[in-house]
Amino acid sequence: MIPKLVIANWKMAIDRDSVRHFRNEWEANQAFCEAKILVAPPAIFLSDLDGMAGVALCGQDVSANEPGAHTGELSAQMLNDFGCSHGLVGHSERRSSWSESDALVAKKALKLELLQICPVICVGESKADRESGRAEEVVAAQVLASCALLKSAPVIAYEPVWAIGSGEAATPEIAEAMHAAIKATLGERFGKPVPVLYGGSVNERNASQFTSCDSIDGLLVGGASLNARTFLNICQSVGS
Ligand code: PGA
Repeated sequence: MIPKLVIANWKMAIDRDSVRHFRNEWEANQAFCEAKILVAPPAIFLSDLDGMAGVALCGQDVSANEPGAHTGELSAQMLNDFGCSHGLVGHSERRSSWSESDALVAKKALKLELLQICPVICVGESKADRESGRAEEVVAAQVLASCALLKSAPVIAYEPVWAIGSGEAATPEIAEAMHAAIKATLGERFGKPVPVLYGGSVNERNASQFTSCDSIDGLLVGGASLNARTFLNICQSVGS
């Protein structure tokens, strides 16, 4: 069985006081969780979470470039220096706002892999793709192209674009079918099973509907991860 993983993606939606408040609340209320838990803060706050009980750290993005003159970018080495075990790449907000292609996502994932940081590759179809019946084809193409340069198994996060931040999560049936399709697409490519997480409007009420599905190995949580107690409840719904 693949161990469950739950990732908090704080995006650019938190300030430093709130990061400190989250940490205090989390550490005061922390309880046993069956899942491995990761927090992806804005990189400037990674050191505020150093040594936080019960969580590992994840980058929100990484540069595809070699260290050097790239103002505003973060290298995989920098994420490594700040203790990140994982790094998100290819989030739909980056694919749409920065026109990131699968080829760029593949290069970013490779940069992480070379430093033994596990890439969490985000994929997902648009509303139009789903309505035209092309969702599985589009996601399969993203998965294959984004993983093209990797030698070891990444984590895949299936996040339908229409479900992110919309309050309209996928149904567990839609998610389960896509997760099974992603696993079938990768087949034996990495010689071991690839964990596939669901993301998109996950909250305290719907989390266990996803994590109780066979093909869903965990969650990538945006808005509902900003509050420590809410996020803890989501994490504790895994395995319950
Ligand atoms: P959401 O975001 O939970 O706020 O929908 C998920 C994500 O974008 O990772």
